[in-house]
Parts: sequence; structure tokens; C-alpha cells
Amino acid sequence: MDGLERCICDYVKARYFPRRAATVAFTEADVRFFAPAVAEVSAAFTSERAGRAKNYFNRREFRSAYLLYFVLSNFPKAWQCLAQLDVTGRFAGRNPVRVLDLGCGPGTGMLAAMEYWKAHAQEQRLECLGVDQNGEILADARALFGMRKTAFSRCETRTVAIGWKNLAQILRRERFDIIMAMNLLNEFSDMGARERLVRSLLAYHLTPDGALIAIEPGLQRTTRELMALRDTLLMERDVRIVAPCLHQDRCPMLSHNKRDWCHFYLDWERPKIIADLDRLIGNKKEHLKFSYLVLTASESRNPSPQFRAGIGTSEHLFRVVSAPLRSKGKIELLLCPAEGNDTGRLHRVTRLDKERGPANADLDRVWRGEIVECHAKGQIAREDHFRIVRSKCAL
Ligand SMILES: C[S@@+](CC[C@H](N)C(=O)[O-])C[C@H]1O[C@@H](n2cnc3c(N)ncnc32)[C@H](O)[C@@H]1O
Repeated sequence: MDGLERCICDYVKARYFPRRAATVAFTEADVRFFAPAVAEVSAAFTSERAGRAKNYFNRREFRSAYLLYFVLSNFPKAWQCLAQLDVTGRFAGRNPVRVLDLGCGPGTGMLAAMEYWKAHAQEQRLECLGVDQNGEILADARALFGMRKTAFSRCETRTVAIGWKNLAQILRRERFDIIMAMNLLNEFSDMGARERLVRSLLAYHLTPDGALIAIEPGLQRTTRELMALRDTLLMERDVRIVAPCLHQDRCPMLSHNKRDWCHFYLDWERPKIIADLDRLIGNKKEHLKFSYLVLTASESRNPSPQFRAGIGTSEHLFRVVSAPLRSKGKIELLLCPAEGNDTGRLHRVTRLDKERGPANADLDRVWRGEIVECHAKGQIAREDHFRIVRSKCAL
């Protein structure tokens, strides 16, 4: 991300602090100049109770702060979903691959797709369409994309407030291989509107083997709303969840209690600009917290994740959906089961330290989000098999 970080810093300084743009590097004084707005924007996006003005990107301080602080921290989340979907493998031979970034803001999703293709399939043509209600942030999106693009990638933008009713008008009959809705759904207060928007996208704007990636802030409320949306979408047979769920039944965590939320963490090497801003505003963005759904429109052409990973369906397969809970003398985990494996509930497993053995040693390094094979029910004994099958956030 070094190149992108430099590019964002240079761009923000030139566009939003032109008096100082002549100085080459992004200095401590520049960080101090932007820090108050970053603190405000960060509070607006990361607090459970925060409210935001309707079209907040009308304010230039909001745009510059978002560019500096949120593009780099949302980018890895999109990259991770693209990588786990193996998009360049999935769409190998397609020319062009078409990406829709809905509610793109500064184009975080399009940038991630473009950089991903640059790294993995540089000579495949990539056409991105970014749609947002705010023309100013779209100008930023085009500028950033232009600074990073290859000869094989291009982007177009459309300024319009999206709703499920005007989707056909905005997108006409266009279909896309990848649709990204990053941090967009929670901007619709009406859950019904979210559902109709996603259903329309899946039904009319996705190619038959395309996938829709919805990423939301890993906050309790936004994530539980995403979990509820997932359950509602699954009421119709033509929607399939590719990830993070390993099954298509109701979300067992949603009914488990009113408190838990299915979120994940990404490790990252915090870019210098984020670390510098964190130091001033008192944040600690050491991990990236988020929730996500990858959806497809039809079952037949989109094999289940177990199939794709070559690990077959297993009654012993689970996604780890809690942090490992370590207390005196034991470790506990909450597991969400795979298809065909008592999917109506979360499975709690416990291993006493004295039962630690080679067969279950992976319990000592397991993380939230990983896919595991677990042969025990409840208590894991020394000889019980527990193995990490796919590491963090694998689909
Ligand atoms: C939190 S930002 C996310 C930006 C980018 N997707 C990201 O994740 O970094 C949400 C974006 O959605 C846009 N947005 C919200 N409601 C919208 C609507 N009804 N139509 C179009 N854009 C909308 C906002 O203008 C903003 O740019």
C-alpha cells in the first residue's frame, strides 16, 4: 500500500491544503492540520451512536479526512474479499471484467479492484463504474484512480442518489462481474430499502457467475443489521451466501442472544499516515474490524466454499465466530457450523489445558474468522482432532 499511501497524501495536500503543497513530504504540520477533521470523521463512522449529516461529503474537511484515514483502512477489507473470492481466477479470460462500486465515495472499492488486478492479472481489461450521490467525492475518486491506473483499467463515475426504485434507470441493463457495496447499506435507515436494493442488484445487475460483496463497519448495530438482512435475503431461493457463512440456514448467532455480532479482524501494517494521525487523535487502529457478506444470485454456477477450497463438505467443519476465550486452565470457542451439521445453533467447545495434545494443538493459534475442523462436541479431549483448515477470514 506504500504507493497508494503516498499518492493519497500528495493528492490530499495538493487539493485540500494547496498553500502547503509545495513542500514535498507530508510533514508533521500537515498531519496536525488535518487531524481535527479526522477525529470528527472517525467519531462519526466508528461510534455506535454517531449521527451524520445527510450528504456529509459536501464538507471539504470531511472529504479530506476520509481520504486520509478511511481509504487506506477500508482498502484491505475489499482486497481481502477479492482475494478470497479469487476474482482473477474466477473471471480469467473475461474481457473486460466489469466492477460496480456502489456508494463508492473516493472509490475505495474500485481502487482495491484495480490494484488487485494490477498485482495479479495486469493485462486483463478492467472497467469500473463508481456511483455516489456526491459529485465532489467522485472527483476525488476519479483523480485517485487516474493516478494509480494501468493502461488496462478505466473508471467512469455517475453522480446520483441510489435507491432500489431508480436502480434500473441508473444502471440501465448493465451487468457486472463484481458489485461492491462498501459501507453503504447502513446509510439506508429503512431495512426494507436495503433488502430491495440488494435483491435488485443480484437479480438484474450481476453476471451469472458474478458476486456481490457487501462490507459494513464491524460495529454491533451495523453488523447485526447485516446479519438480519442475510436472513431475510435467504427467504428467497435464488440468493446464495458464499461467505462468511458455511451454510444457508438462519443465522444462529442472531437468535443466540441480542448481543453478539458476527465480525472479523484483519491484521495490517498500519500505514505511517494512519499511525501519525492515531497518535494525535488518540485512536489505535491496530487491527481492521469489519463485517461482510459475499452473495451470488444462483446456486448451480457458484459452488459452495467447501467445494472450492477442495475440502469437501464435512459434518466437522465450522467457522470460528468468537475470539478464543482464555481463562484459568481452559480455552473456549464459539463455532458456526457448515451445511448439514446442526446449523440451528452455535457450538461452544472447550478444551482444558491438561487436555492439550498434538491432535488439538491448533487451538492454541486459532483466530476468529478461521475455518476449522473439529471432531469433538462440547469438551475437546487430548485425542480429539481440531485443525485449522483455512486461515483468517478465508471464505
Ligand atoms: C461511508 S462512505 C463509503 C465510501 C466507500 N465505499 C468506502 O467504503 O470507503 C458511504 C458513501 O455512500 C454514499 N451514499 C450514501 N447514500 C447514498 C445513496 N442513496 N446514493 C448514492 N450514494 C450514497 C455517500 O455519499 C458516501 O460516499
